[in-house]
Amino acid sequence: MSNPLPRHQRPSRLNRFLFGTAYYPEQWTPADRENDTQRMAQAGMNVVRMAEFAWDVIEPRRGEFDFSLFDATIARMADVGIETILCTPTAAPPRWLTAQNPQWMRVDAEGRRMRHGSRQHVCTNNPGFRAESQRITRAMAEHFQDSPHVIGWQTDNEFFCHFSECYCDACTSSFRQWLRGKYSDVNTLNRAWGTAFWAQTYDDFEQIELPLRNRPTHPNPSQELDYYRFLSDAIGEFQRGQVEILRETQPNWWVTHNGLFEHIDYWKLRGDLDFLGVDIYPGFVEQPRDFSWASLKLQQCRAASGSFIVPEQQGGAGGQLLYLHQTPAPGQMRLWAYQAIAHGADGILHFRWRTARFGAEMYWNGILDHDNVARRRYAEFSQEGRELERIGTKILGTVVDVRAAILTQTDQDEAHATMTLGLPGPQEQTKLIFRQMLVSHWPAGLVDAADSFAGLKLLVVPSFVVMDEELAARLQSWVENGGILVASARTATRNRDNHVSAQTPPGLLGELFGVTVEEFGTLPTPLLNLKTGDETIQVGAGYEILRPRGAQTLATWSPASDGSPHAATGEVALTLNRFGQGAAIYVGSYFSEQNTAPLLALLREHAPIESLGEADELIEITCRHCLERRLTFALNHTGQPQQVRALPAGLELISSQMCGGVLELAPYGVAIIETRL
Ligand code: GAL
Repeated sequence: MSNPLPRHQRPSRLNRFLFGTAYYPEQWTPADRENDTQRMAQAGMNVVRMAEFAWDVIEPRRGEFDFSLFDATIARMADVGIETILCTPTAAPPRWLTAQNPQWMRVDAEGRRMRHGSRQHVCTNNPGFRAESQRITRAMAEHFQDSPHVIGWQTDNEFFCHFSECYCDACTSSFRQWLRGKYSDVNTLNRAWGTAFWAQTYDDFEQIELPLRNRPTHPNPSQELDYYRFLSDAIGEFQRGQVEILRETQPNWWVTHNGLFEHIDYWKLRGDLDFLGVDIYPGFVEQPRDFSWASLKLQQCRAASGSFIVPEQQGGAGGQLLYLHQTPAPGQMRLWAYQAIAHGADGILHFRWRTARFGAEMYWNGILDHDNVARRRYAEFSQEGRELERIGTKILGTVVDVRAAILTQTDQDEAHATMTLGLPGPQEQTKLIFRQMLVSHWPAGLVDAADSFAGLKLLVVPSFVVMDEELAARLQSWVENGGILVASARTATRNRDNHVSAQTPPGLLGELFGVTVEEFGTLPTPLLNLKTGDETIQVGAGYEILRPRGAQTLATWSPASDGSPHAATGEVALTLNRFGQGAAIYVGSYFSEQNTAPLLALLREHAPIESLGEADELIEITCRHCLERRLTFALNHTGQPQQVRALPAGLELISSQMCGGVLELAPYGVAIIETRL
């Protein structure tokens, strides 16, 4: 049996580094489009993505198809060496379809039915719409089947980007159907949902409703968790209907989708795709302070996908009804593109080629301005294109080297959301831990709980409340073989039905951590602090009192600073258990703004992680590698020149200069050092 690579270590299998933009020929006159292909080719583009909102152009009336605009555009692009990614256009069903089928429109949590006039307005669980989605997919697939210039497809566009839930009748019946498939008989469901609480027992699947908000108080957390799982499975099924048609029509096409949004388990969604895509707009957060926001999204994609593409990379300041992003400074747009590559992207398509003159996004800046004049964004874009033309082949085939990982699993975020208690969940903690790993220049990333943990040195499990025997056994055997595992408060306290376990926490992981949790609670202000030797670490939201059962104590709870009595004072707060060749560290609290840096410094004493270089905190350093080579990326997120030290000596690919281990980066500058192994 071959030993397959962990999914997060898999290359994308693209045979060309993709560089281009989203393109909307349907929004422009022939005169506007006149010089597009020449200017695209001059900028180094080799791909465009088209048609995700063009159903009304391709099929102006039901059954009447007109592919001429796309045929002509694909051919014109091909003349200058630009290939095409097509999209199924199901994110914007045309008016004739919604006029004929008003009952297919989505319904929001307040019971309001959506109207035609924006996008994502039709329910993807409606059987009639599913049939239409497959009909248009088949029509497009068959038409473009033999076009050598169509290289791959994107399904739909950003599933769930506006809202995830729909409360129409079709959703109710498909939820019931999904539950029948999962539980077979209603009594099994009653037990799994704990319906004995508040008289919720069901006699029949037909009595079950969606967890709508209009109830006197909170819904059943087990029902809610199943609903979120249903949402994810259902959109996966909708997508599968399209993917199967694309694959059977032309097996050479690859298929992707652009995420990432709530209530989708991308690990599963990726199962039907060749690789994932993620759309990245770093201007949504304060830059450079929050530079790691984009890195985290990219890592979420990488964890589910392996190497991936960015179908939409910020192409200027984006503006919608009520806001306009801060305008990227000179060099910053290119920096963000390299940031995506540094975290595993094998293709960058900026959004969009030219800024629209009409529509809800008429101030969402593309590479060209409204007047079709190429200005500084085009110059910067062309620089990126020419560089990637030269170095793209060096990047393809390499994957991100991750040694320090944070475990991720959609089910954990969903379980937390059903009952947050106002305490930090996996996502909030991941954000802090990952940022701290990045500013410490560790080779850091996210790994999905379903993936293999091979090759990792340190694995952090941020309050994974839900645990099952399979995951517990895999974590245990990874530690036995030398891994250093860290978990924070409330880990392994519930089962997959979202019931609190009858076992003393951390339940299925008790032996591995060599500890039991005696008590948990929220902290009073002033805070109770963890004391490790002479050092006091400020904690965040909650405490657990630990009882070592073989583990050694690393820290205890110090008295509350106002001297008031507290159950945790003097009790154990942090433990380390040697297990096989590895160790399991239990943090009886949550990672917080105050404690993440000191806690990671302490962890490092037990899990020796080598930094990738030395630099200011706003310099990002990552590494991509393959069997023969390592590429060390250094990204300056600041507007000042910066020095990076302790880098490997090698060839800097963008400048083609040798680098001896110290590098000066220009404001928003980027370097990629290649070393041979
Ligand atoms: C994405 C979407 C695009 C466009 C862009 C700018 O979420 O896929 O179609 O809307 O944002 O808002």
